[in-house]
Amino acid sequence: ERLPDLLKRMPKAELHMHIEGSLEPELMFALTARNGLSLPYADVAALKRAYVFGNLQAFLDVYHAGTLVLRTEQDFYDMAWAYLQRAAADRVLHTEIFFDTQTHTGHGVSADTVINGLHRACVDVQQQLGVSASLILCFLRHLSEEEASEALEQAMPHLDKLVGVGLASSELGHPPEKFTRVFAKARSLGLHLVAHAGEEGPPAYIWAALDALKVERIDHGVQAMKDPALVARLARDKVPLTVCPLSNLKLRVFPSLAQHNLGAMLQAGLVATVNSDDPAYFGGYINENFAQTFAALGLTAQNAFQLASNSFEASFIDASAKRAYQ
Ligand code: ADE
Ligand code: ZN
Repeated sequence: ERLPDLLKRMPKAELHMHIEGSLEPELMFALTARNGLSLPYADVAALKRAYVFGNLQAFLDVYHAGTLVLRTEQDFYDMAWAYLQRAAADRVLHTEIFFDTQTHTGHGVSADTVINGLHRACVDVQQQLGVSASLILCFLRHLSEEEASEALEQAMPHLDKLVGVGLASSELGHPPEKFTRVFAKARSLGLHLVAHAGEEGPPAYIWAALDALKVERIDHGVQAMKDPALVARLARDKVPLTVCPLSNLKLRVFPSLAQHNLGAMLQAGLVATVNSDDPAYFGGYINENFAQTFAALGLTAQNAFQLASNSFEASFIDASAKRAYQ
């Protein structure tokens, strides 16, 4: 079998995808009209021309503008449903979806509206397509820990709809330690813990995510390769890293995919996975990430099996279901 076909066809889990980053321009325009709003772009083509980013912050500004069209529970449902259809087509059997409530409560949409809409899509996709989907609430690290605690408070009535909490948004200048207490609280509630670290930020942020926040996975983590002691720690403890190659390319973490360190991470024995991050903005869903990265780095079928296996191993599905997927 040809490698490109294997990559498309192999069962996989996706562990790093922000649902707000899956909002395609076409749906953004449709929701704008449905909600009687307007966008500062003439049409889909003009909007897509704005999708050129110098760094993470430049992207976050555009991404935030896109979230302004999301107003109703049905909007969140429709956005999640569209992503889940795409994921199923890419042979994603299980997905752990990042979302945040702070972006939306910040412009007058309640946490209940967000969570209920997303959760209903997760229930429906399990019933209709057999894809399992769970939700991870991300705190926004450019805001205060107190605001993160408020977001967790607002999510309390929905704990049964969440599998964990994460940490996203502007990394530089916002080290993980800032969120030590709210992560401890989430842990005491039985939630799984993950955090973005080492996307643009230094290895020290990855150490802090592990030691101060006690996260079980690192999102991105590509900067870990600059610190041999950290690589040894991540390998020893089999800490999964949810790598997003096209995101790293579009946000200029690496100048080209050929210079990406995913191959080196696998070589070093790290539990790396491939994910799409914000597929509507970065030029591809998970299979596109696999296809382009494998072509650029000359990765092999053996690497493909390892990455697929890692994705289920790193997931928060229970142990018996994990064995069924392996
Ligand atoms: N929110 C959405 N995508 C993100 C990323 N790549 N890094 C940090 N926060 C994000
Ligand atoms: Zn991300």
